Amino acid sequence: MNRRTLPSLLGLIAFLLPMLLWAAPQQLILSHVVSPDTPKGKMAEMFKSIIEKKLGDRYEIVIHSNASLMDDDEAVSAIADGRIHFAAPSLSKFESYTQQLKVFDLPFLFPDMNAVNRFQKSPTGQALLSSMKSQGILGLGYLHNGLKQLTADRPFTKPEDLAGLRFRTMNSDVLIKQFELLSAEAVPMAFSKVYESLANRSIQGQENTWSNIFSQAFYEHQPYMMISNHGVLDYMLITNSDFWGGLSEEDRRAFRFALEMSLKYGNAVAKAKSANDKIELGRMKGISVFKPKADELTVWQTAMQPLWASYEGLIGEKVIQAAQQAGR
Ligand code: LMR
Repeated sequence: MNRRTLPSLLGLIAFLLPMLLWAAPQQLILSHVVSPDTPKGKMAEMFKSIIEKKLGDRYEIVIHSNASLMDDDEAVSAIADGRIHFAAPSLSKFESYTQQLKVFDLPFLFPDMNAVNRFQKSPTGQALLSSMKSQGILGLGYLHNGLKQLTADRPFTKPEDLAGLRFRTMNSDVLIKQFELLSAEAVPMAFSKVYESLANRSIQGQENTWSNIFSQAFYEHQPYMMISNHGVLDYMLITNSDFWGGLSEEDRRAFRFALEMSLKYGNAVAKAKSANDKIELGRMKGISVFKPKADELTVWQTAMQPLWASYEGLIGEKVIQAAQQAGR
């Protein structure tokens, strides 16, 4: 190397050094199955924006909505294996990993969302967040969507009106048995397939929250609805236990802060959307919303509640009692 080339080589190194030292932020995948304009979608966006504001030089949150990456059953196993970093599946979607969360599927166990909230915040509800830790799944918090309503393509007011109809359920054996108790046929199916199955009439009914019925336009093929409030559809925000354990103390604090803020925001959106979408659906032409009187609702409760006793052994008497306690 001669004397003339050395300065220009040093200049080139000085120019390239910052680029060589700069590492692209690590991409963290958050997968979910609903639209961005839902409590979960809004929570995910808020989480992304806080993390990228605080730790954007090191982390980028990549959100996949509307099951564009995977459905929930796969997301739960992808979290367990560490293939993705965050997901918030409904509490009905963990049955391959724990039996205890089935408490959330028991029909008519929670009289309202305040009771759900109290149970989730109780020591028993908090302990459930760690119930799958040994399998690689760590719960970081709960997110509300709301209470489920029944819908169908034909009028119904009594349990026997559903006999013989095919109802979509999430993949949960409590939910399957719930419809079997009504002599209906339960058809477990991924959320992303529900609209199409309602449209082609391969199923005649489904259960979901006001915001899911509205945001997925299920009402287009389900003109009959009942304010049944018979079950809860909430979520657990989960991550991979090793990924979480591998974060520095400082980063974990920042993630916790972002989660706390975004779950609070998501819960406020859930409350507002549940009320708003119920009103929107009630106003729609051609949609009939049946509001049962107390004695009419009791008939539905009597038909579904035998499930409590049959799941007591699997879920645990203490967990069920803590949930009932939260409702009093
Ligand atoms: C469903 O499958 O009906 C729900 O879990 C969808 C969701 O995430 O709200």
